[in-house]
Amino acid sequence: MENASSSNAIETFELGMTYKSGKVEVPALQNVTFAVKHGEFIAVMGPSGCGKSTLLHLLGGLMQPTHGKILIDGTDISKLSDSERTAIRRSKIGYIFQRFNLLPTLTAKGNIELAKKIHGNGHLNENGVGRILRMLGLTDKIHFRPAELSGGEQQRIAIARAIINQPAIILADEPTGSLDSRNSQTVLQMLRDLNDKLGQTIVMITHDSDAASTASRVIEMKDGQILNPAIHFALSRSLKEAANSI
Ligand SMILES: Nc1ncnc2c1ncn2[C@@H]1O[C@H](COP(=O)(O)OP(=O)(O)OP(=O)(O)O)[C@@H](O)[C@H]1O
Ligand SMILES: [Mg+2]
Repeated sequence: MENASSSNAIETFELGMTYKSGKVEVPALQNVTFAVKHGEFIAVMGPSGCGKSTLLHLLGGLMQPTHGKILIDGTDISKLSDSERTAIRRSKIGYIFQRFNLLPTLTAKGNIELAKKIHGNGHLNENGVGRILRMLGLTDKIHFRPAELSGGEQQRIAIARAIINQPAIILADEPTGSLDSRNSQTVLQMLRDLNDKLGQTIVMITHDSDAASTASRVIEMKDGQILNPAIHFALSRSLKEAANSI
């Protein structure tokens, strides 16, 4: 369902996720309602296991929630099929995974080129691609395969791959988690520039309060819920209006 006038890039409404492993149910996320305006830069913080990656996976349409709704640009993706969610992700979202998810048989360059081909909107020419690789300090590593790269180098390739198509929304799961302080600063500056200059909406998970201070708002999570939800929901439409429109 399309809502072209949505001022929010992302909205969730009573979002929940319960994993099932065999007979055991793991409630990882409960009752998460918040909104992210177009062009906002949000940091998500909270202890290990509190549901941050689960939340980001749901926002990126990587899996279906067990409860509630997610609107991306006004479109409810919570009930869409895998392929419909994938289509939305490819057209709007750049995803930086906590565990990089690079294809092991492709070189660094191959991984980035594949992303460019899949998304296929090729805003960036070869110069633009080269500029991103230079900024991330990757130019001498482009012919290496993931197994031949350090964790920090793989992380930077994963970042290049996610931003190469200039997606409207960037979802980043601990993008500086494996980086030294100099490379962390470069990556954070790059995200800040994408947000400032291109108006890209960013949701970034981090354990690092310095990294979080880059963001315009911090959402804190604990035990599968967000703290102070009223503050984060006050920025979105009223609960009733949101419920009626979906
Ligand atoms: N595929 C899965 N199947 C079953 N349980 C899962 C699955 N993925 C995550 N969980 C559980 O859900 C909870 C939240 O996990 P999640 O990965 O979202 O945490 P996190 O906040 O990202 O943690 P970290 O900071 O360590 O990355 C944890 O209890 C975890 O064990
Ligand atoms: Mg995580």
